[in-house]
Amino acid sequence: LRKEAAERIAQAQDLSDLNQLRVQYLGKKGKVQDLMKNMKNLSKEEKPQFGKDVNALKQHVASRIEEKREELAESEMNMRIEREKIDITLPGRRQTAGNLHPLHIVTQELEDLFIGLGYQVIEGNDIVDDEYCFERANIPKDHPARAMQDSLYIDENNLLRTHTTAIQMKVLEQAAPNLPIKVVCPGKVYRRDDDDATHSHQFMQMEGLVVDRHITLADLKGTLEFLARKMFGQDRQIRFRPSYFPFTEPSVEVDVTCHICNGKGCPTCKGTGWIEILGAGEVHPNVLRMAGYDPEKCSGFAFGVGIERIAMLKYGVDDIRHFYTNDKRFEETFKRFE
Ligand code: PHE
Repeated sequence: LRKEAAERIAQAQDLSDLNQLRVQYLGKKGKVQDLMKNMKNLSKEEKPQFGKDVNALKQHVASRIEEKREELAESEMNMRIEREKIDITLPGRRQTAGNLHPLHIVTQELEDLFIGLGYQVIEGNDIVDDEYCFERANIPKDHPARAMQDSLYIDENNLLRTHTTAIQMKVLEQAAPNLPIKVVCPGKVYRRDDDDATHSHQFMQMEGLVVDRHITLADLKGTLEFLARKMFGQDRQIRFRPSYFPFTEPSVEVDVTCHICNGKGCPTCKGTGWIEILGAGEVHPNVLRMAGYDPEKCSGFAFGVGIERIAMLKYGVDDIRHFYTNDKRFEETFKRFE
């Protein structure tokens, strides 16, 4: 038995093999314990010697197992060290830092510019009720202007806002009747539209709103001229063209002289020298009244600028879908503008 045990211990491949052997030989029902059963067949004189021999065997096997355990443990450790070896001469993996999204860069730039002029930045919810998106903006249910903005309704009363003018209406209501109001409201807006190079069912706007005593179109013009020059260069001129929005009166469309050809005419401005950048106007008296202001005592201007449009012009992006398809190669090119 001693020899058999020694051989099998020597052959053990790993610690779990060895453990099985320990149970087989030294366990309560193991082979060494079995030997003890023979005790009863022995004479009184033989018993002590037999007991001693079995004990010696037991110790012998136990110490063999212990030796083997140490040997196996060491070789397993060596194998692990070998396996987990780190080659410090390998070149490291390069960590690439992310960068800001171009729409974020433009939004931040506009926010900074207006904060510098004393404006507050206010955001709102993407889902709004009909009342703030349309009614308060002087667009009643049967008004044809509702068709100007194909909307995405969630249920009878709630929709994804079609313009940041919805935030403007909340701001007005919450501030009334206090003066002055000076805010910009950036955010995503949504319209039922087929996506192509210049249309997206989701895009970003920034609304501007100023209400105080004696605010005129001249204030609007000065403000937007400042915006145009900050965003497109110090030589830029702007012009107002008459337009229509239900929530402003008078309403204007604002053009800036082309930053590519400086107003001479090029493909970017379709040869006209001018590029349309936003819609604006004097806040309609009905809008002021509905929010709780007296249009006899104050007036205001508002504008809504498309962030994608500014980004496309500024960076020469030819397809609005680039902003939403998450192509890292496109986004990484904006790192230098951060
Ligand atoms: N809400 C208008 C739009 O989405 C933009 C606008 C805002 C026009 C404020 C005038 C005043 O087109």
